[in-house]
Amino acid sequence: MIDSKTKLVALIGHPVEHSLSPIMQNAAFRDKNLNYVYLAFDVLPEKLKYVIDGAKALGIVGFNVTIPHKIEIIKYLDKLDKSAELIGAVNTIKVDKEAIGYNTDGIGARKALEEKIGKVENKNILIFGAGGAARAVAFELAKNNNIIIANRTLDKAKKLAEEIIEKLGKNSDEVKYVPLNTDLKDVDIVINATSVGMKKDDKPLATAEQLRGKVVMDLVYNPLETPLLKEAKKVNAIAIDGLGMLIHQGAEAFKIWTGVEPNINVMREAIMKYLN
Ligand code: ATR
Repeated sequence: MIDSKTKLVALIGHPVEHSLSPIMQNAAFRDKNLNYVYLAFDVLPEKLKYVIDGAKALGIVGFNVTIPHKIEIIKYLDKLDKSAELIGAVNTIKVDKEAIGYNTDGIGARKALEEKIGKVENKNILIFGAGGAARAVAFELAKNNNIIIANRTLDKAKKLAEEIIEKLGKNSDEVKYVPLNTDLKDVDIVINATSVGMKKDDKPLATAEQLRGKVVMDLVYNPLETPLLKEAKKVNAIAIDGLGMLIHQGAEAFKIWTGVEPNINVMREAIMKYLN
């Protein structure tokens, strides 16, 4: 029940009306009997500067941050944790006397993988994309794996690879960059962190034969069955859909706000029920 002690967590983005976060977070709060509520606020870019002071004034305890505010919000925060600092973008904020920015996208992707295949270390991981989502995933997984960044614009892949090498103290054997149409021979795990697959007639970025024997994860969750995952399933490769990362990044944020571990299955069921 909402009462005078209910704590507020909110999503800020523009637009926000298609977000699944309110559904999964409110289900998780209810499941743990936590007196919290999660709402979505559509915040215009020119109004972003009021959000953190407003939250401190009102006692809003946390946020998720989505497009287009993930980078811009940083200048209004008091501190960044290591993940947000490395990635250069924030998707979660805890507000107390200070507002602290985190990025749970990378760890969310790791947990989604590890939920299906166990600990991910010393693997060769190819990531399609060099945008915001790819950055988060690449920085996290590069800690203990070899990373290959494949991107349409090769220069962006090169810049990201060089940045990871510098910031994580890696070398150019451990973090490479290649064009999109590349050989996947020595790759163990393939992750799509581009927007390819969202549109109905998008072509998959790899063929079934290329994906044979690999673990394939797509970060696109609308549609759930992407062209890439369809190819993976043709050769019985392990296929992980975009709900995995969505739920796990949300679960990590939940822990930051509440200190409590949420029930992943409750979050997943809430989304599946809402989508069907
Ligand atoms: P996000 O924050 O979701 O990662 P982004 O930063 O805009 O979004 O990045 C989008 C990624 O999808 C980029 O890697 C982009 O490739 P470019 O760097 O070459 O633009 C990739 N992408 C988008 N549309 C694509 C397409 N039709 N084919 C291949 N890659 C595409």
